Amino acid sequence: MATYDTLGATYARTRRPDPRIAAQIHAALGDVTDVINVGAGTGSYEPPRTVLAVEPSRVMLAQRPSGSAPAVRAVAERLPLGDDAADAVLAVLTVHHWTDLTAGIRELRRVARRRIVVLTWDQRIFRERFWLVRDYLPEAAAFDDTRAVPTEQLAALLGGARREPVLVPHDCSDGFAAAYWRRPHAYLDPQVRAGISLLAQTGETVTAPGLARLADDVATGRWHLRHAELLGLEAIDVGYRLLVTDL
Ligand SMILES: C[S@@+](CC[C@H](N)C(=O)[O-])C[C@H]1O[C@@H](n2cnc3c(N)ncnc32)[C@H](O)[C@@H]1O
Repeated sequence: MATYDTLGATYARTRRPDPRIAAQIHAALGDVTDVINVGAGTGSYEPPRTVLAVEPSRVMLAQRPSGSAPAVRAVAERLPLGDDAADAVLAVLTVHHWTDLTAGIRELRRVARRRIVVLTWDQRIFRERFWLVRDYLPEAAAFDDTRAVPTEQLAALLGGARREPVLVPHDCSDGFAAAYWRRPHAYLDPQVRAGISLLAQTGETVTAPGLARLADDVATGRWHLRHAELLGLEAIDVGYRLLVTDL
């Protein structure tokens, strides 16, 4: 069973594409004529030119809005497509879930004619700058250490890539791990945590003590005192990166 058949049950409730991040992804895709979205999930960030979504989880596929691009149940490591199948391939916040990264990236290179766009994160920056994992949930940071893909490795597998920082807006509508950096109370909501694989996979038993400390710091105002400099910021760089490869 695909991991997201368990993790993804309420995904669409908290993971709505953020328009600013969508604009950056679509700008990176540029003038490509057709796009295949791999690890597509519920279809976030798919441009209208998407001709096919590839996704292994039935639960995620079931949450794709009606009118979305056609979807096939498959994994990145074995794409059911011929060579040079589309102008571009898109892979958003998915490579860290793949069982064989090298095979998956080889497949992206095989099916893309002109461009590959991958959204991922740089774990060294993330664990240093993002207060949740740094100050409250070091166990979650340790879990991410085991699955995060170093951006240098990813760029090398892609055959070279330019790297663009993706800033996270303070009111980001896509509830991924760092989306609530200026809304700390959100991490106390189990539904929010269920939409963040880092927290869901680290597990409630492990995260409970850190979250209890966070609840206390939010209730007493300690969090806001300690992070006063964040409260005036509109967006921050906590390590999310767009890798863009021209073939
Ligand atoms: C965090 S979700 C991202 C979904 C979507 N791209 C988005 O931005 O909302 C990660 C997705 O990767 C998918 N996935 C996991 N392993 C995969 C694999 N080997 N090949 C392709 N997709 C995979 C999961 O099923 C899940 O839908």
